[in-house]
Amino acid sequence: MIKLSFQDLPQEEQNNIRSTIEAQNRAYAPYSHFPVGALAISSNGKKFPGCNIESVDYTLTSHAEMTAINNMVSSGEQKLQKIYISLKSEQIPVPCGLCRQKMIEFAEQEDMKIITINNSKKELRIYQFTLKELYPYPFSKKYL
Ligand code: THU
Ligand code: ZN
Repeated sequence: MIKLSFQDLPQEEQNNIRSTIEAQNRAYAPYSHFPVGALAISSNGKKFPGCNIESVDYTLTSHAEMTAINNMVSSGEQKLQKIYISLKSEQIPVPCGLCRQKMIEFAEQEDMKIITINNSKKELRIYQFTLKELYPYPFSKKYL
């Protein structure tokens, strides 16, 4: 994991972070009050936002990363180059285990970048992981 500084990032990265936070602002999270945003970037550079969408039954909830990846696939792109995630927390943000599995399904490379953004304070805290680092021994289609 490495920590990134917003000011030092290229314009394109800064725009992607802004788009991720815009997606977070569209979250439907009336039960958890925990909005999450995501932005999936396909291998050809197209951008697909997602947010968490909860349901009163609690089990039907879509996570932001899943929504973004489903948005990418349903738009005709099946290769995930990288993904951004934003949330507010006291912790360093990471995707849950289910979302790590979802990323493995479409990741272009095992060392795909996962950029997480904590916007709980005025100053954004930004971290960069690789999928390999967060999910080192994945169950994948290679096993079948
Ligand atoms: N959530 C995500 O959107 N992504 C994750 O990887 C972790 C959890 C959402 C699901 C639920 O709406 C809320 O955060 C609290 O768990
Ligand atoms: Zn998740």
